[in-house]
This record gives sequence, C-alpha cells and structure tokens, in this order.
Amino acid sequence: MSRKSASPQPPASRPFAYRNRTLHCDGASLTALAAEHGTPLYVYSAQQIAHRYQLFTEAFAKRPHTVCYAVKANSSLAILRLLGQQGAGFDIVSGGELERVRKAHKPALKKVVFSGVGKQIWEIDAALAADILLFNVESPAELDLLAARAQALGKRARFALRVNPDVFAETHPYISTGLREHKFGIDINAARALYRKAAKSKWLEAAGVSVHIGSQIRNVSPFAAALARVAALIADLRRDGHDIRFVDAGGGLGIDYGTHNFDPAAEVKKYAAAINKGLAGESAHLILEPGRFIVAQAGALLTRVLFVKQNGAKTFVITDAAMNDLIRPALYHAHHEILPVKQPAKPAKLELEADVVGPVCESGDFFARDRKLPAVKPGDLVLLLDAGAYGMSQTSNYNTRPRPAEVLIEGSEAKLIRRRETMRDLLAPELLP
Ligand code: LLP
Repeated sequence: MSRKSASPQPPASRPFAYRNRTLHCDGASLTALAAEHGTPLYVYSAQQIAHRYQLFTEAFAKRPHTVCYAVKANSSLAILRLLGQQGAGFDIVSGGELERVRKAHKPALKKVVFSGVGKQIWEIDAALAADILLFNVESPAELDLLAARAQALGKRARFALRVNPDVFAETHPYISTGLREHKFGIDINAARALYRKAAKSKWLEAAGVSVHIGSQIRNVSPFAAALARVAALIADLRRDGHDIRFVDAGGGLGIDYGTHNFDPAAEVKKYAAAINKGLAGESAHLILEPGRFIVAQAGALLTRVLFVKQNGAKTFVITDAAMNDLIRPALYHAHHEILPVKQPAKPAKLELEADVVGPVCESGDFFARDRKLPAVKPGDLVLLLDAGAYGMSQTSNYNTRPRPAEVLIEGSEAKLIRRRETMRDLLAPELLP
C-alpha cells in the first residue's frame, strides 16, 4: 500500500485493489461484475486460491505430505476442481461433500479423508466404494459400524482415530474443538486400547492418527503441543505393532480479518515450524486440512446499498445482502472489512458511523456495528472482505431469499461458477398435497 494514497486500500494479502478509482478483483472491475451478474455476488480470485495452496506445499516440501483442502470452507465445484488440478486432496464431512469431489475432480477421490462425528451408513458405504484414503473415526461406536460396513462391502477400511489432545487454542468458542469437553474426537488416553481392539478385525486397517484442535487459530503453539501428543501416541502404537503411516494434523490456521500487516507466506512458514516441532522425529506421511487459510481472503461478497436511514442517533446502511448470504457476523460476531467499490475522493473521510445491515427480519442481521465508513448512498456498491471461507457454504434461503451467484476471476476474465437461484429453484422441493 502506497503511503501517498490517503484513500483506504485493501491490504495486499487480498486480491482486491483500487484501479482507476474502482475496486477490482485481479483484473476484473467489480462495477462491471455487478452490472453483469447482479448483487449480492460472491467474487473469488483463482490466482489467490492457487497461491495459498502452493504456500502449504512449499512450506511442507521437506516432508511427504498431502494438503486435503477442507471442503466445508467453500464447496463450490469450480473451486474444488481448481484445487484438485493443483494436486490437492480433500477433507470431507458428509456424503454430499464426497459427491462434490467426485463431480469436481474424480481422481482426487483417492486423496479424500472423511471426518465428522456422525457418519451415516450410506455415507460410509459411498466412501468405502470410492476407496478414499482415510476415515477419521471419532468414536468407538463409529469404529464398530465402519468394520461392519467394510465387511458387508468386502472392502478393507483404512482409518485413523481422531484423538482429542485436550489442548486449548484461543479462538471463538463455537469453533474450538480440542478440549475434552468438546464433542469431537476420542480421548487421547483411550486411543491405544481402541487401536488394539481394531487390530482384531481384518476389515479395519489402522493406518493413521488424526487431530484437529479448532479453527481461526492465530497463535501456532497449540498446534505444536497437540502434534507432540500425537507423535507420542504414534510411537506407542508402533510399539504395539500397528503400521501407522499417516499423521493428520487437521486444519485451523487463522487469517487476519482486519487491516494489520499480514504476510500469508510467513504465517504458513510459522505454522509449518510448529507442526514440525511437534512431530520432531516422526516421519509419517503428513495430511493437512486447511480450509479458511486457502479461500477466505481470496473471496469477497459484493453487495449494493438499498437505503441509508436514521433511527434516533443511529445510522443504518441497508444492503441487498443479508445474514442468509453471509452469517459469520451474526453467528460469531465476526469482523469483515467493508470497502466502497468507488474509491472515495482523497483524502478519504470516514464520514459515517453506521450499522451495516441486511433486509432480513432479525436484529441479528448485521455485517457491522458502529463502523466508520466513507459516505455511501443508495445504489453504491460495497465489498465485504474475507468472505471466501464459510460464506457461500453457510448460506441459507431464510426469508425465502435466493442464494447469491458466484464468479471466479481468472486474470481479467470472470467465469460464472454458480448462477443466482430463482424462485422456481427455491420452491421446487415443496408439495401442496
Ligand atoms: N478439519 C476439520 C476436521 C474441521 O472440523 C475443520 C473446520 C477444518 C479441517 C478446517 O478448518 P479451517 O482450516 O478452515 O480453520 N464456520 C466457522 C468455521 C467452522 C470450522 C469447522 N471445522 C467460521 O465461519 O469461522
């Protein structure tokens, strides 16, 4: 960011920048995108997504590893295909996500790891039939079910137990998972006995150990602590005669949602150092499950101001996007930077202090509260940054609102990767008996 420019610029860790006083995503003007595709519109940079994936493969180059992108962060087929073509595997949590991987990039099925505390028979069967890499098993009952389904299908199931290391990682309580009081994983102290029991089944192959301590974790030391416990368990398991070939470190590396200096390459290097420190001499094939870090900052939500209104002392900017389109502020009080698409005249004046809200009938339908913004008026476009992860994938049709369209920018070319939903789409499953 040039110091001479007094107008706010998005930090360099995002693919969004002003050119000719108009915000662009790489080479594509957001004004033009809104005119062509309407709003609200999710906009992603293909280049940034590929770049973020490469940061992981580079930082972990010294270890045999597979980056299994966490599909839940953004499960759009075109984005899965882009990552699959880069060589990524995938971390899935449902039979639906398995189908997405199959459709987006079939060769990647053999690089799929299947996580989740409540896998159902049809999902296990589909994953066994697809010969995925690894089931991350989260309970003794699930292990029994996996053995039974493997026998029924005549397929051996490779599994890892997802252990709960009882490590605390500072993040929002809804997305912290690594403590004994959380529903996730199996108490690390009970794992050894369960591996011993599993060894008795010829339908189960104890191939790995996995761990995931939470999401949006900025301080990397809990990763080292969790992996150190996992490495100790793997050493015990080897002594017990199990051929542990995979160690799955989960996802969770956080990003900066604000305007601090943020160097993604340096962050991934710090993360790799923490993982390597925890694993020390352990040389099993490393699986990583990053989601947010790869897609969050590559994407943003473009929305148009409908009205600006005053209620008492408060100003409200009402946009055509709402909590159904991006629920993170409502659900986690998450912060997303908001930029006007037309660059304000220099020097930028933060003239407004406003709540930026959507049209949904809930007071929780907000994107920002008491936010200082350059003056905006009805018809103006604004951009909600860092919405590439857990944005589109957490949308709903609440208030019978069609989901946004999505475009993927490749250089200056914009590819529509999801058309806007129609009323017909929304009403199609309903019956009037
Ligand atoms: N692996 C497992 C087993 C997970 O449960 C998750 C995320 C990931 C990997 C990917 O974590 P990431 O690298 O994206 O942090 N909706 C919330 C985040 C929920 C995360 C759930 N699990 C949000 O908008 O912040």
